[in-house]
Amino acid sequence: MKLVTTIKEMREQVRRWKAANLTIGFVPTMGFLHEGHASLIRQAAEECDKVVVSIFVNPMQFGPTEDLASYPRDIDHDKGVCLENGAQLIFFPEVSELYPDGFSSFVNMDGLTNGLCGTSRPEHFRGVCTVVTKLFNIVQPDRAFFGQKDAQQLAIIRRMTIDLSFPIEIIGCPIVREPDGLALSSRNKYLNEEERTAAHCLSAGLNIGKSLFENRERDTHAIKTAVLARISQEALARVDYVEVVDPDSMQPIEKIDNAALCAVAVFIGKTRLIDNIILED
Ligand code: PAJ
Repeated sequence: MKLVTTIKEMREQVRRWKAANLTIGFVPTMGFLHEGHASLIRQAAEECDKVVVSIFVNPMQFGPTEDLASYPRDIDHDKGVCLENGAQLIFFPEVSELYPDGFSSFVNMDGLTNGLCGTSRPEHFRGVCTVVTKLFNIVQPDRAFFGQKDAQQLAIIRRMTIDLSFPIEIIGCPIVREPDGLALSSRNKYLNEEERTAAHCLSAGLNIGKSLFENRERDTHAIKTAVLARISQEALARVDYVEVVDPDSMQPIEKIDNAALCAVAVFIGKTRLIDNIILED
């Protein structure tokens, strides 16, 4: 497993691969890799000749009161996950490598970044768009793999790739879950035993929304109310949002015609978790 920390060395490797006509798959991450990340790496390895995984806890996407300092890290474990799942290279830059002194250029997006997580994390997607733009420019992948777990992020990256003319195919990958339904997340590490049990309420709520939809409910108010009621049964849960939105525009809708995305963000104790489910026939 090759570990590269500088942009210069990364570019040299990319040049060699491109000269040999090899395709590059890219999986951007913040590390502390779990089976959700591993599934992205495996899919990239199936579809591309070489796979690059970036591991970078991006300070720009954390708010001032968020968990940047405590975000879990374990590069030795991450190396093993990358190796076992078919990656050839880890890009592991220092903060100063990506954000040199005087850094002052940002990628801002209107519209898609406004609702859902953009409401409670106002600077978050500016940080995501800026770092992903930089990583795309450095790694120059043919395909980049993102999880449906972060549905709004995936929609934003698709939009940004079109808007900024990146010659990159964006591949969305399904959510990987624990046996009880909890979506895998590096932040699950923060949960104590009691909170871990309580965290089941997110997927349980979403599944209630899905079964209403399957029973022909198309009124999003009724769906949101039922999801909220299930999550609120859990004493440790504090809801940030429960929304039903158009899966492309991420704007709230009142009635579901074709497809919709039901998305939730919930604090379990101090840990903010997100999850979502697609509602379509
Ligand atoms: P991170 O939270 O580490 O997630 C990296 C990628 O793994 C994202 O595309 C995310 O959607 C995907 N992922 C996480 N949990 C998943 C699960 N349970 N099932 C499937 N995929 C899952 O998302 C980020 O990092 C950052 O914002 C980043 C894009 C790297 C920019 O800093």
